[in-house]
Amino acid sequence: MSTLTDRPTLTTATGAQYARLWGVGGYRPERVVMNAELVEAIDSSDQWIQERSGIVSRRYAAPDETVVDMAEHAAREAIEAAGITADSIGAVVMATVTHPYQTPAAAPILADRLGIRSAAFDIGAACAGYCHGIALAENMVRGGSAEFVLVIGVEKLSDFTDFHDRGTAFIFGDGAGAAVVGPSDTPGIGPTIWGSDGSNYDKIAQRDSWIEVKDSWTAVDEESIKFPAILMQGQPVFRWAVWGMAPVAQQALDAAGIKADDLDAFIPHQANMRIIDAMIKQLKLPSDIPVARDIAETANTSAASIPLATERMLREGQAPHGGLALQIGFGAGLVFAAQVIVLP
Ligand code: UT7
Repeated sequence: MSTLTDRPTLTTATGAQYARLWGVGGYRPERVVMNAELVEAIDSSDQWIQERSGIVSRRYAAPDETVVDMAEHAAREAIEAAGITADSIGAVVMATVTHPYQTPAAAPILADRLGIRSAAFDIGAACAGYCHGIALAENMVRGGSAEFVLVIGVEKLSDFTDFHDRGTAFIFGDGAGAAVVGPSDTPGIGPTIWGSDGSNYDKIAQRDSWIEVKDSWTAVDEESIKFPAILMQGQPVFRWAVWGMAPVAQQALDAAGIKADDLDAFIPHQANMRIIDAMIKQLKLPSDIPVARDIAETANTSAASIPLATERMLREGQAPHGGLALQIGFGAGLVFAAQVIVLP
């Protein structure tokens, strides 16, 4: 094969030197669901749920409220907090596993509602989706493919919950969180430590595939498809989260060149209060560093949990604007992502 030598050199994109979060927003649906409402169907108790998970209540979206509706609330708040207008946004990245359509993605619908025609796509990285989105946004801003990126984590898990499944019926909640990532003169998002273990894909998974693989052909067999609830093997996931994720969080600190006691906030995925406490211990996090405990009132909202917890900590003054926060998401895949950020 001959080599072409007379071709012009391509012009490539160049972006900002650094990226940072400019603003965050959150949306919690109106309906508060206490444990008492769920315990009968799973032969449980408010006390058991609180002791084993730290969850007191969660929010459920209205039947006709969609992930796009919830995302729109959070996105508008984040854009306002960032002090920009929607037309500056070059990409909308929506992290969700509960948009009930295989296609089209939810992000273009949201972009249209915001009155923009930017790049817009969904990512499926479950409870780590928001941190994956922040990693992509940081790279896009520095790489020059967008000046501002809107990242949303949103879930309507109540649509995908089997209310008779003891391991998950009480765990999930609905909500949306969003962040605007844009250019910065100083470093605002540390390196992302991320990865996957697909050999454990079945530990948190939708009950059935949408299609049934039969011999050498595939077909939708309506008879055999069960309600696609998301189920979880609680104990192995718990062990993986406790023993596997603290080292990832430590690597994110090391990569950013900071120590645990430099942090102004620790914002882990809100999966279980006991997992949060175990991670604090393993990271040897000093006791005066604020830790997100939004799970008590919001339960596990998968991709939305970290931005929702971040929005709350800033709004309630638990964490300072401009402070350093370590965030880590982990979940179905199995997948994970962690990074240190400067709070907007
Ligand atoms: O977001 C993605 C990442 N997700 C996570 O990281 C979640 C990880 N897993 C967990 O948070 C926990 O495994 C759960 C909260 C889901 C469950 O807590 P656990 O302490 O692991 O419970 P277990 O499955 O070990 O069950 C302990 C006991 C059992 O009874 P015996 O055998 O000790 O008599 C269960 O039968 O609790 C019983 N049990 C329940 N009792 C009341 C299990 N589920 C329930 C229930 N209510 N809902």
